[in-house]
Amino acid sequence: MNKKAYDILLFSYYRDAELRGADLILRLINRPDTAELQTNLARHLADETNHAWLWTERIHALGGAPVRIEDGYHRHLRRKAGVPATLLELLALTYVVEERSGKRYEEHATRPDVDADTLKALHEMRVDEDWHLTWVGEALTELGKKEGTEKLSAALARYRAAEAEAFTEMLANEQKALQEIAAGKENGEDPR
Ligand SMILES: [Fe+2]
Ligand SMILES: [Fe+2]
Repeated sequence: MNKKAYDILLFSYYRDAELRGADLILRLINRPDTAELQTNLARHLADETNHAWLWTERIHALGGAPVRIEDGYHRHLRRKAGVPATLLELLALTYVVEERSGKRYEEHATRPDVDADTLKALHEMRVDEDWHLTWVGEALTELGKKEGTEKLSAALARYRAAEAEAFTEMLANEQKALQEIAAGKENGEDPR
């Protein structure tokens, strides 16, 4: 297996998810709300764009360039979950997305062949993703008090189900593309 080609493509998937996650936060930031919410959203947006940059740096360090991902995580997610319309829906979807990115990076960090620089980047991102889960969770709890905890639980359950389907679908495509690129380069072909 050509690990370098595999990593460049996998990091491009991660990078794409970070950029589109930032897009979700941008949609939230345009909603008028409290100063605290605005501050957290600005920090959160800065983190996600930084994460996209960290993956870009890792890709460059491997001697590659970011691969354009046409049908990544957030596109699958939009097809399954739709476009959130309310603040509660936006926050609930963001929460579910954060749960996933935390789990993905946690899983990657346990791989036996992960290099030290990637591990360092993963650690930095996981610290941020933990904070994202914390603040979005707190904001959702507050919103649930105003709008009803049942409504909040229903939104979270709906998005978790939609996200699980979207992730399974996306992962199948991603794994196929990763296997192809790794095998292609090993056989001396240039798959891109
Ligand atoms: Fe992130
Ligand atoms: Fe995040």
